[in-house]
Amino acid sequence: MLYEINGSSFPVYSLLYFNHIFSGSFAQKKTTDQKVDSVLKLMTLDEKIGQMNQYNGDWAATGPITKDGDKQTQIKNGMVGSMLNVTGVDHTRTLQQIAMQSRMKIPLLFGQDVIHGYRTIFPLPLAEAASWDLKAMEQSARIAAVEASAAGVHWTFAPMVDIARDPRWGRVMEGAGEDTYLGSLIAAARVKGFQGRGLGNTDAVMACAKHFAAYGAAVAGRDYNSVDMSLRQLLETYLPPFKAAADAGAATFMNSFNDLNGIPATGNAYLQREILKRKWNFKGFVVSDWGSVGEMINHGFVKDNYEAAMAAANAGSDMDMESRSYIQNLATLVKEGKVKISVVDDAVKRILKKKFEMGLFAEPYKFCNEAREKEQWNNPAHIVAARDIARKSIVLLKNEKQLLPLSKQTKTIALIGPFVKAKADNLGFWSYDWPDDTARIVSVWDGIKTKIGTSTKLLYAKGCDIKDTSRSGFAEAVEAAMQSDVVIITAGEARDMTGEAKSKSIIRLPGVQEDLIKAVAATGKPVVVLISAGRPLVFNWIANNVPAIVYTWWLGTQAGNAIADVLFGDYNPSAKLPISFPRTEGQIPIYYNHYNTGRPAHNDSDLNYVSAYIDLPNSPQYAFGYGLSYTSFLYSDIELSKKSFKSGEKLTVKCTVANAGNYEGEETVQLYIRDLFGSVVRPVKELKGFQKLFLKKGESKTVEFIITADDLRFYNDKLQYIYEPGDFKVFVGGSSDNVKEADFRLIK
Ligand code: NOJ
Repeated sequence: MLYEINGSSFPVYSLLYFNHIFSGSFAQKKTTDQKVDSVLKLMTLDEKIGQMNQYNGDWAATGPITKDGDKQTQIKNGMVGSMLNVTGVDHTRTLQQIAMQSRMKIPLLFGQDVIHGYRTIFPLPLAEAASWDLKAMEQSARIAAVEASAAGVHWTFAPMVDIARDPRWGRVMEGAGEDTYLGSLIAAARVKGFQGRGLGNTDAVMACAKHFAAYGAAVAGRDYNSVDMSLRQLLETYLPPFKAAADAGAATFMNSFNDLNGIPATGNAYLQREILKRKWNFKGFVVSDWGSVGEMINHGFVKDNYEAAMAAANAGSDMDMESRSYIQNLATLVKEGKVKISVVDDAVKRILKKKFEMGLFAEPYKFCNEAREKEQWNNPAHIVAARDIARKSIVLLKNEKQLLPLSKQTKTIALIGPFVKAKADNLGFWSYDWPDDTARIVSVWDGIKTKIGTSTKLLYAKGCDIKDTSRSGFAEAVEAAMQSDVVIITAGEARDMTGEAKSKSIIRLPGVQEDLIKAVAATGKPVVVLISAGRPLVFNWIANNVPAIVYTWWLGTQAGNAIADVLFGDYNPSAKLPISFPRTEGQIPIYYNHYNTGRPAHNDSDLNYVSAYIDLPNSPQYAFGYGLSYTSFLYSDIELSKKSFKSGEKLTVKCTVANAGNYEGEETVQLYIRDLFGSVVRPVKELKGFQKLFLKKGESKTVEFIITADDLRFYNDKLQYIYEPGDFKVFVGGSSDNVKEADFRLIK
């Protein structure tokens, strides 16, 4: 028997279903949990398992594709709960219509890697992290959500909140760098940005904190590799950004490909059940990474997909992305009692709850509005925001004799290198190519051309390709340099050289780019090198021989404009590195918050039976927190409100910062702490606060930080999160390696 609503026919049992979900109009007001329960009661075991199954769409792929079965028929049969890589109102509507033909009419969730913008591409997450500007990062995530949701996307697989101390690892680009404190704040900001005013608003997408957990610590920086670390390290360094994301309301988590201390994260009950769902009381759901359920066979953790499904479901992986282990085995596992129905019910409830919160039960086509999609396709306000955060992400690494900023009246500028006219390489990994997009991407050439006056002559020579070994363009480049007053050389990595499955053992400029720079520098002309990359690269010759170096990462759609703003002084660079830049690959992993060891080197040339390299200083090429400005900031000595304090009291740390240079500018004042003696050893420095100060020429301002005992907590050897009375150092400065210091004591 059928009845009709809005011209569609539904079977009678649907009456019951509608009764449950449309509270208010049909029944008394129900909580979301009650609505979820009502739906769950009506579902067969197969339909429940269908909700736990996610397939890739047939339009694009971000992992190894399995070509099997007719997905549309499976959707119609209620065998699919979510799809990834299906975007655009057109595509999502088509599939949602099919889901609406299923018996239970449970809407699909559409997930997508919206990592640093959807239509408007923002700087890489690592680059944005260099801005230390939480509001700007929240805004960039917000805009990404507005654009993606307008194109039918419900759920982004972001933010990636993995701490990364190894620039060989290609995914270093996708997170916030090496620091736990900064990474946690950024994780929360990005979650807030994606989820906006909350799920249920048409411009909010569900965030997904990934990859749970410790994926960034892959041995030797090789993607998908194993991770072995102490639980203390895990709790103290790698998990806090996930906790911050959960506390900020992240709707979902994604587990990770790696094994952690021998247990694959996907089958890891300690991570997913004990920490995330029990201790942190996380109410969202966990999706596996692409195929990671089935990959537990390769890990040698389970024998087949049947065991894989059992291990993953029991460990708390609620949704299987692309491995098909759940859809093929869970029903049998439940029937055989190997997976309790309560485990399946819990997973399904979590998934259904998000669908309710997104408003999809009431309006399955809520995100399928062509007019809105069109409106957000070219939103000028988004372009303005992209330019703003792009320039905030640019790090000035070197500027000898104030070569920068350049005068807009410079007579002749030579623009050399493979990135000058590049378009898509500005976007970087995890960005989409829209067929009509290249016109929107501002190249360095475009940006500079728009910036300078008509009196400046611009010369161009590509010099070489990114990867090629041909030097045939060198002569032309040298010739252009000879005719110019100043040379700007662009160098770096193509957009596919850093990202997923893009680990490298050598992280230098590819091809003959460094040789090109040497040849051009040999002309004696003043040279500015722009480095465009997704990770910290090693470029010692350039660091030692070229007067000005600007790290431009991959800046997105507005790259050229942002770079021109910085080069010509319309924006005074303010970014600070969120990750250490090594001198060579041999120093990796390298991070500022290391332990002291029993034989610390006292300086970079100390080799007297100390923990050091005989062929290289210990210090990085550029330290965490480092970044220059066109102006200079002078720090006063630190003033403490008292020399010692007790828990429950506050210690005020004050420092005055003066702009002593010739430009107004912004400084990120960083506060670090060192616990000098602990029941477990503590890092030589740990970031515990920062403030951004905008100072006019000649202006000074006093920053004030408050320290409480809570800021001094750490995990002891029993994994208790405690503080211990004793002696501490506090440091304030503009970089982790350039600070003022003072001592204080925490007393009982
Ligand atoms: C694998 C990646 O590790 C993950 O971050 C991504 O979200 C999925 N593929 C889906 O593309």
